[in-house]
Amino acid sequence: MLLKPLCSVLGVVSTAAAYVVNNGTSCYVYPESLTHFGQPVDDTPSILRAFELCGTNGSVVLTENTFHINQVMNTTGLVNCDVELHGEMIWSDNIPYWLGHSYSVVYANLSTAWFFGGENVTFKGFGKGRFNGNGQAWYNENRNNSNQPGRPIAFTILNAKNLWMDGVSWSQAQFWHSFISHSQNVSMSNIYMNSTSNDTWFTVNTDGSDTWNSRDVFYTNWTVLGGDDCIAIKGNSTNVVSKNITCYRTHGMPIGSVGQQPGHPDFVQDIVYEDVHLINSTNGAWIKAWQGRSQSVTNNGGSGGGGGGYIKNVTFRNFVLENVGQPISVTQCVYGHDPSVCDTSELQISDVTWENITGTSHFDVASVIHCSPLVPCPGMKFIDVNITTVNASLGKPSLPEVNVCANIVNQNATGENATGVPCHGFAPNDMPNVLYRNWPELLTQVILSVVVPPAQRDNCLHPGPNPAAAGCNPPPY
Ligand SMILES: *[C@@H]1O[C@H](CO)[C@@H](O)[C@H](O)[C@H]1NC(C)=O
Ligand SMILES: *[C@@H]1O[C@H](CO)[C@@H](O)[C@H](O)[C@H]1NC(C)=O
Ligand SMILES: *[C@@H]1O[C@H](CO)[C@@H](O)[C@H](O)[C@H]1NC(C)=O
Ligand SMILES: *[C@@H]1O[C@H](CO)[C@@H](O)[C@H](O)[C@H]1NC(C)=O
Ligand SMILES: *[C@@H]1O[C@H](CO)[C@@H](O)[C@H](O)[C@H]1NC(C)=O
Ligand SMILES: *[C@@H]1O[C@H](CO)[C@@H](O)[C@H](O)[C@H]1NC(C)=O
Ligand SMILES: *[C@@H]1O[C@H](CO)[C@@H](O)[C@H](O)[C@H]1NC(C)=O
Ligand SMILES: *[C@@H]1O[C@H](CO)[C@@H](O)[C@H](O)[C@H]1NC(C)=O
Ligand SMILES: *[C@@H]1O[C@H](CO)[C@@H](O)[C@H](O)[C@H]1NC(C)=O
Ligand SMILES: *[C@@H]1O[C@H](CO)[C@@H](O)[C@H](O)[C@H]1NC(C)=O
Ligand SMILES: *[C@@H]1O[C@H](CO)[C@@H](O)[C@H](O)[C@H]1NC(C)=O
Ligand SMILES: *[C@@H]1O[C@H](CO)[C@@H](O)[C@H](O)[C@H]1NC(C)=O
Repeated sequence: MLLKPLCSVLGVVSTAAAYVVNNGTSCYVYPESLTHFGQPVDDTPSILRAFELCGTNGSVVLTENTFHINQVMNTTGLVNCDVELHGEMIWSDNIPYWLGHSYSVVYANLSTAWFFGGENVTFKGFGKGRFNGNGQAWYNENRNNSNQPGRPIAFTILNAKNLWMDGVSWSQAQFWHSFISHSQNVSMSNIYMNSTSNDTWFTVNTDGSDTWNSRDVFYTNWTVLGGDDCIAIKGNSTNVVSKNITCYRTHGMPIGSVGQQPGHPDFVQDIVYEDVHLINSTNGAWIKAWQGRSQSVTNNGGSGGGGGGYIKNVTFRNFVLENVGQPISVTQCVYGHDPSVCDTSELQISDVTWENITGTSHFDVASVIHCSPLVPCPGMKFIDVNITTVNASLGKPSLPEVNVCANIVNQNATGENATGVPCHGFAPNDMPNVLYRNWPELLTQVILSVVVPPAQRDNCLHPGPNPAAAGCNPPPY
């Protein structure tokens, strides 16, 4: 069946404009531009039509062409459907349209350009299928601000069961590249994402992926060039495995933020991050929870804090770090700027293992773990953690690597109960998430008073007119 008359045989696109070619249970989609002298014409109606016709017990094939996406898409409820993307989908940069029409994903007042879901669904890109979010327009318009309402997540997997996405790449995502919400048994493998601002404005909040209210999620073989979290696990996520993931200039691998909303507890358990390579990252293996009292903050989606729940049974294993700002950290006051409410979280964190974590830190800080004193963390473990400062790794003068902690159960135990977590001093409860300089308070409290010989201390705290030459001013990251 042809939806609009095609003047010749199946699969041959004519000037008569027919863009879904339906052959049995397969729908082949061609872009309108082919018959409009290459002019970009909105292909959303054809794509939605193809999903209507072939979304149940069928396949939808976006042929090796460029498709223009000017409208939101909701293709949930697919059943036994195989999707193929052989070419590129380019989202329009009509910012007013998206601000007015993006679908709410409920989470944190965020929204999306595409809802995709169903049962027994595959989405294959064969290494060439590509999403192009035209994100530069968003980066410039957003001017380094945080979560602009209506700025859309590129692709949201919603209400999916048994979904496998493979071999797809993203460039210049509008906002987060992908989001998995209310889904079960979802795999995303062989994924490449690159959102790089070519302007003075940062990409801001171009997470690689986030999970929420989902279970059995498998991320394998990813490369992400981002600007925010690489793969983040949000509330109510169970059994999420991220394996063989390389992230450039991201915020690393966080669990959280969780505990933002009173009355909506976040339960997170059975999380594995394995074979992870972080390059030039602000953070590494990170757990971030809000403080226990709701408080208004200006830089991350209004107010937050006071949500309950727990995070348990987490493993960060086989990490290679290159120039990472805070390689290992736990905070229970993630956006708090008021240390007096920082110690109010009742969200229990337990059974977290960091194993075989090696490489370099940007600063002299290897780990900062501050659990809430109301719920000290049991089952915290370091096994074969060996992090060196970038400077030391380059043979330059450097301060000793610092590990600080607070409220870890069994911190001083030996033998069977030993945590292996070194603790050179007390971890502050309001450690900034992103360090832009070595942290003088830490240095003062921990390094200067305890370990560093005065000559070296002076060298790096007061390095003189040319800090780089003194080996104390690490490269930008
Ligand atoms: C239509 O489907 C039939 C049966 O699967 C296949 O042999 C044929 O090549 C298809 N035609 C086109 C144009 O894809
Ligand atoms: C998306 O489509 C589903 C049906 O598959 C419908 O239930 C849902 O309300 C739609 N969502 C939006 C935001 O339109
Ligand atoms: C999905 O696939 C499973 C396993 O093949 C099958 O048992 C189930 O019925 C399928 N679901 C639907 C809605 O067809
Ligand atoms: C990422 O994209 C930018 C431009 O958008 C490009 O300059 C850069 O080479 C890409 N990086 C990789 C590793 O593909
Ligand atoms: C950045 O990308 C935009 C959109 O692709 C382009 O219009 C602009 O010229 C580029 N700017 C630079 C400095 O390359
Ligand atoms: C990951 O990549 C390796 C090497 O290319 C490949 O053998 C493996 O099958 C991939 N894993 C998945 C889940 O696709
Ligand atoms: C890891 O994933 C990358 C693609 O991101 C792939 O090239 C590489 O072969 C994979 N390595 C293994 C051991 O699967
Ligand atoms: C998590 O799931 C529980 C029910 O198990 C629900 O009460 C809570 O609202 C959910 N939290 C979020 C943040 O969705
Ligand atoms: C912890 O999580 C791992 C990985 O999901 C799982 O295999 C293991 O059974 C869990 N352990 C407990 C005690 O639940
Ligand atoms: C430690 O991690 C590195 C990097 O992923 C890996 O090459 C090495 O085999 C791991 N060591 C052990 C003992 O698993
Ligand atoms: C830690 O790593 C450094 C730098 O790679 C290495 O010189 C040192 O031997 C390692 N220490 C241990 C205990 O493995
Ligand atoms: C890491 O950042 C440094 C400093 O900006 C840069 O020179 C280097 O090329 C980056 N490394 C990679 C692999 O991107």
